[in-house]
Amino acid sequence: MNIWEELPRPFLILAPMEGVTDILFRQVIASAGRPDLFFTEFTNVSSYASEKGRHNALERLEVAPTDSPIIAQIWGKTPEHFSECAKALESLGFSGVDINFGCPDKHVNKTGGGAAMIKTPELAVECLKNAKNSTNLPVSVKTRLGWSNPDEFKTWLPTLLNEHPAALTVHLRTKKEMSKVPAHYELIPEIISLRNEASPKTKLIINGDIKDRAHALQLHEQYPKVDGFMIGRGVFQNPYCFTSHEPTKDELMALLKKHLELFEDYSKNHHISYEPLKHFFKIYVNNFPGAKELRTKLMETHSVSEARELLTF
Ligand SMILES: Cc1cc2nc3c(=O)[nH]c(=O)nc-3n(C[C@H](O)[C@H](O)[C@H](O)COP(=O)(O)O)c2cc1C
Repeated sequence: MNIWEELPRPFLILAPMEGVTDILFRQVIASAGRPDLFFTEFTNVSSYASEKGRHNALERLEVAPTDSPIIAQIWGKTPEHFSECAKALESLGFSGVDINFGCPDKHVNKTGGGAAMIKTPELAVECLKNAKNSTNLPVSVKTRLGWSNPDEFKTWLPTLLNEHPAALTVHLRTKKEMSKVPAHYELIPEIISLRNEASPKTKLIINGDIKDRAHALQLHEQYPKVDGFMIGRGVFQNPYCFTSHEPTKDELMALLKKHLELFEDYSKNHHISYEPLKHFFKIYVNNFPGAKELRTKLMETHSVSEARELLTF
């Protein structure tokens, strides 16, 4: 079964976000209103390939029954490690493997990975080929328009498409643009043409500034040849964004309580700290009278039980 052939048209994906879309948050979003497909946070192929890093890599790749179907996202710059990691992912229950050629993080780019791969297209192609040849899972790519100039997409995307990835997600900005300028929706028609010419079976996914389901459907009406849409920061504004439902305060509080419960359960068997969990509070404690005051108090807590004491309503 190829998951990319099973999805509805258009399909919606929760974007991979490091430090956000972990096993716990994916379960929260699944309960609010699920996307058609989840991605994991990205895992480094060389960590997976090393004895020291494997335990941590496997922990990052843990999934829950409710976040299926799910694609494992990987990154790196060593072709042999792409082979090793892609092969292993097949037995871990994933529906596919996605390669990150778009991350703008300076630590990632310094190693030659993420968006830096745009500057070494031959190496990028070798990594993609190695992954494809090592697994029966469909292999896809997520990238940006280019490194510094949006026009780079005219050569960079065909380079990838010539390898016939199962899907190609294009974040409609360059590395240099980070997320500071509006996504270049005006380039969608040209990107569709490139896909149609080089690899018509590759599913095309558009990413950047998409707020919610209604917004994705509006873009699909405008560009019906786009197969799917990926939403990242839209979940910060509305965790129900995959349904476009505007949640009530009670619904948001129920999600917060669910996240706390999932954290508590997971921490019984894993070393995770409470501080990073607090970053999520602004997603739930938002857009209702008194939200700011409650959030300030929650940010001063040091444990799940302290947070719960503030939620006894
Ligand atoms: C906190 C954060 C972490 C991210 N981590 C990843 C990642 O691990 N892999 C990836 O491909 N993109 C990552 N991204 C990029 C998003 O997947 C997405 O491409 C970007 O946010 C643009 O989409 P949006 O405008 O819908 O947010 C991250 C973005 C954010 C905000």
